[in-house]
Amino acid sequence: MDPIVVVLNGPNLNLLGTREPEFYGSETLADVEADCRRLGTELGLAIEFHQSNREYELIEWIHAARERAAGIVINPAAFTHTSVAILDALNAFEGPIIEVHISNVHKREPFRHHSYVSGVASGVIVGCGTQGYAFALHRIAKLIDKPKR
Ligand code: DQA
Repeated sequence: MDPIVVVLNGPNLNLLGTREPEFYGSETLADVEADCRRLGTELGLAIEFHQSNREYELIEWIHAARERAAGIVINPAAFTHTSVAILDALNAFEGPIIEVHISNVHKREPFRHHSYVSGVASGVIVGCGTQGYAFALHRIAKLIDKPKR
C-alpha cells in the first residue's frame, strides 16, 4: 500500500480558474487534483484530495489523517491568516506538513503576510502558482518517515 498524502484546500479554492486569475492563474481545482494524482502515482503516494469552504470540515480531515496519513499538503486559503483551530489540529498530526500558497502572499496586503500554519509546517511554498502543489508532493515524498521539523 502506498503511503497516503492528504491534500487539503480551504475556502474559495473551488473557484480556482475563474477567481482573480491575476493572482491564481487559469487552472481549475480539478486540474490541480488531476496533476496531484498523476504525480502521486509517479512518486508512489496515495493522494486524498479535498476542498471545503467550512473550517470544521478541514479540521475533521486533519483529524482523520492522524494515524493513517504519512503527510499533509495544505493550502488553508484565507484560514491561513485567521485560524488557530487549524493550527491546533495540525499540531496533533505527527507527519510532515507542507503549506502551499498559489499566489505570493508577501507581495499582497499585509494581512496575508502572517500565517498561523507556517509555525507547524515542515516547509512553505509561496507564489509558485499551482505548480506549488507538485513541489509540495516531491518534498513530502522525501520527508516521509523523517521527523517533521
Ligand atoms: C491563498 C492566499 C490567501 O491569502 C488567500 O486567502 C487564498 C489563497 C493562495 O493560494 O495564494 O484564498 O492561500
